[in-house]
Amino acid sequence: MTELDQRPADTASDAVSTGPSRRQVLLTGGVVVAAAAVTAACGSSSSTTSSSGPAGGSSSTPSGSSSASDDSGGGTKVAVADIPVGGGVILADKKVVVTQPSAGEFKAFSAVCTHQGCAVASVADGVIVCPCHNSQFSASDGSVKGGPAPAPLASVAVTVSGDQVSVSA
Ligand code: FES
Repeated sequence: MTELDQRPADTASDAVSTGPSRRQVLLTGGVVVAAAAVTAACGSSSSTTSSSGPAGGSSSTPSGSSSASDDSGGGTKVAVADIPVGGGVILADKKVVVTQPSAGEFKAFSAVCTHQGCAVASVADGVIVCPCHNSQFSASDGSVKGGPAPAPLASVAVTVSGDQVSVSA
């Protein structure tokens, strides 16, 4: 019986003796994992340079502002001959678009789009177009004809004298 009594004791001692080794393994593993985490945190200091994309689509090319002048103190003058019927002239530096919706009728509006502030870029067939998101405005009264613009273009005073159109910009 003594042998039988000792066997369970041996087995128990074995179980006890293996306990610490398991704990050591677990502890060691934990330290390794922690060290790896620290190394990863320190090692991943790569600087990511984020270059900003294209700064908007601000293309403000004046289409025929050849003879615009503001020599008479006050208004800017444009030759009537330079303003096509149904079209217009964009005075980029003044941020004004001068149109001739019908022969002899001249209008002027702010060239700043009411959507997000781009400069309108073209006038054709009675429509002023903003290139950024394709808003379209009437060349007759500046009202919105299409696109995301929430409001019409602001009117600018215009006077005609002889073969010159003056805008108060
Ligand atoms: S800024 Fe003119 S359509 Fe968006």
